[in-house]
Amino acid sequence: MKRLIVIGISVLTLALFAVGCASGAVNNPAAATAAVTDSAAAVATSAPSDIVTTDTAANETLELTLDQLKQYDGKNGNPAYVAVDGIIYDMSNVKAWGNGDHNGYSAGNDLTDIIKNKSPHGLKNLEGLPIVGKLVDG
Ligand code: HEM
Repeated sequence: MKRLIVIGISVLTLALFAVGCASGAVNNPAAATAAVTDSAAAVATSAPSDIVTTDTAANETLELTLDQLKQYDGKNGNPAYVAVDGIIYDMSNVKAWGNGDHNGYSAGNDLTDIIKNKSPHGLKNLEGLPIVGKLVDG
């Protein structure tokens, strides 16, 4: 009998507790929503910052003349861009192109002939590099 009473009291306590919680959310939906929104916001802001596809896509429309390309020499904080077959590649994050220089050649130039006819590696080293635009006459 005693055991039954104990079980009964526990069930009752649990029920009362649940009602209390529900009434809290009902009585203060704003707090409940705020809690949800905060956690959703926390999830959203923790998205990896490395999603830069939009930027890169936008840059693919960059159109530069040979003269304009010269300023992208990889020096003094400038990006290091190189043109090959009319396509402009970004060498800024390529270790072998530190400070915009590579085996005596500099960024900010059209190096089609050099990579095809003088480099030991040929065009294969361009695979996977970010394309930032195209070379236009002017
Ligand atoms: C005579 C001229 C050149 C020489 C002797 C040369 C030599 C080299 C060497 C030894 C490497 C490192 C090892 C390798 O990845 O094969 C390298 C890497 C590289 N070269 Fe050249 N290169 C020349 C011209 C060029 C040109 C004109 C371009 C671009 C237009 C270029 C783009 C690259 C890139 C992007 C890498 C890095 C590859 C990577 O880390 O995945 N190179 N080059």
